[in-house]
Amino acid sequence: MRLENQYDSGMTAKEYSAHSIENAAGDIGRQFLYRHISAYPKEGRLIAIGCGTGLDLAAYKKMGFTHLVGIDPSEKFIAETQTLLGNDSEIRRGTFEEIPYDDDSFDLVTTRFALHYSKDIPKAIKEIGRVLKKDGALVAVISHPLADSLETPDREGNITITLFKGNVPITFPQHTLSDYFSEEFLKDFDIRSLFEYCGTEQDRGVNGLPNALGFVAIKR
Ligand SMILES: C[S@@+](CC[C@H](N)C(=O)[O-])C[C@H]1O[C@@H](n2cnc3c(N)ncnc32)[C@H](O)[C@@H]1O
Repeated sequence: MRLENQYDSGMTAKEYSAHSIENAAGDIGRQFLYRHISAYPKEGRLIAIGCGTGLDLAAYKKMGFTHLVGIDPSEKFIAETQTLLGNDSEIRRGTFEEIPYDDDSFDLVTTRFALHYSKDIPKAIKEIGRVLKKDGALVAVISHPLADSLETPDREGNITITLFKGNVPITFPQHTLSDYFSEEFLKDFDIRSLFEYCGTEQDRGVNGLPNALGFVAIKR
């Protein structure tokens, strides 16, 4: 299975979209993202990578951001996002590993529950650093590597978990904390904020252990 195309299968996209909207209001991970992003100047250029169905981009538009870009590998999600955002935002196909924009294009890169799908975190981090301007911010929420370490990987190193009370099965590579916060990452970014929480979207609340990790990192 190609990990980046799993949301193109009809049921997964539809189920994900419906449950995500239903779950949005009480989502503390989204509150973390919104609190940090709303502090930045609204004329800055913002890209949401792995933007999914565009719920967060719609929230950034409501905050007053005027230069919004979204990329995602799923054609279905891109179409849904374009419908939600209208023509004044740029929504196109793209991945973390190949961000279809020039160097220093963005003041803000944001991503919610998408970076952990990357099979090549070093390349993804390099690409994010390339398109971010100096002093620009990466504001992210990822599946918590601690929760992921409790899963048994398949022969390709992928784990499968479910979201939204078993309704949406998803597969992604098992990553460690140092895959994300590697020496290369720490050479290019300063970590400003970390936020661990047990979100209700993932069906993995083991003894209250965090299943999600939010962070803000500033490009040097
Ligand atoms: C759990 S969904 C999250 C969607 C959206 N950010 C949200 O919070 O609702 C994961 C998203 O990551 C996208 N994705 C998967 N692999 C990716 C990759 N290599 N680069 C960028 N996005 C990817 C999927 O298509 C999907 O839209």
